[in-house]
Amino acid sequence: MNHIFNWAARLGLGIAWLGALPGARAEETSLEVLERIAFGSCASQDQPQPIWDAIGKARPQVFLAAGDNIYGDTTDMALLKEKYAQLGAKPGFQALRQRCPVLATWDDHDYGVNDGGAGYSRKVESQQVMLDFYEVAADSPRRQRPGVYESWRYGPAGRRVQIILLDLRYFRSPAAKDTRSAEEKARLNVVGWYVPSKDPKAEVLGAAQWAWLEAQLRLPAELRLIVSSSQVVAGEKGMESWGCFPGERRRLYEVIGRSGAQGVVFLSGDVHFSEISRTEEGPYPLYDFTSSGLTNTSSVWAAAVNPHRVSPVAYAQPTFGFLKIDWSEPAPGVTLEARGLGGEVAFSRKIALSELRRP
Ligand SMILES: [Fe+2]
Repeated sequence: MNHIFNWAARLGLGIAWLGALPGARAEETSLEVLERIAFGSCASQDQPQPIWDAIGKARPQVFLAAGDNIYGDTTDMALLKEKYAQLGAKPGFQALRQRCPVLATWDDHDYGVNDGGAGYSRKVESQQVMLDFYEVAADSPRRQRPGVYESWRYGPAGRRVQIILLDLRYFRSPAAKDTRSAEEKARLNVVGWYVPSKDPKAEVLGAAQWAWLEAQLRLPAELRLIVSSSQVVAGEKGMESWGCFPGERRRLYEVIGRSGAQGVVFLSGDVHFSEISRTEEGPYPLYDFTSSGLTNTSSVWAAAVNPHRVSPVAYAQPTFGFLKIDWSEPAPGVTLEARGLGGEVAFSRKIALSELRRP
């Protein structure tokens, strides 16, 4: 039994297993109506992590760990387990786990190697270490298939939230390095590690995860949170992002359109600051709410260019992301809030669900 199942069962909530939908394996669903969701990324296990207290006070019904949940950075699996154990020993994190399900994907550092992708030598073992730490059931499909991606749906018809965790590491091709001079990068106001890949074969998700994602997007839901460890919409900074793989990002937007999935909002992390970006390149306005980090912050990276930013600032203090879902008619919506150490709201934006569908 995994976490979510246990937790829902404790509350006596209805649980249904969906049968064999075409292309989709049975996913776990709960009838609980979600109104408060927290998420975050970039938590150094070597630092104090007071932000868990603020997260707990916000009373999330679920917490989404969006990657760089620890800084593992090792091929030594015993050491990786020790670093997870450091996170597991944080009292605030322990309290949160008691309170609500913690659903996790990974980014490069918890995967095991900075900016790592498909070539990481210990990815098979690292996957099991990660799933062990998050108490994922022995019979979960995540134990059997390569990659840690997974999805869930909460709520009855009309108030369904689908949570999709992507794995951006296991299958990812190398990103193309930015070889321009430091002066040129400064002039362009980019961080400047990578440039968009010109390789038409470059992959982010891999064939199996793409097919799985499209099948998930064809399931009915009013709001869909697609958790991508790297930023989706903001690619101009030259940090890791979907912008490093323009063909794959186009495909992502096309899959959302083709599947008819309404209500998509991206949640991302990784960059050590928080912001909201928006693109018109999808079937309807696509928002990317980046919350980073729980401990690690960088005002230098926050200052780099992002023409897609719609939040008033790129906020470079410790933050978690908080989503408040208002299901009340006639205008249900979701409010995206970046919250700081004291729970204070650094910036927020309300999005009507009616905006997240084809006009
Ligand atoms: Fe990262």
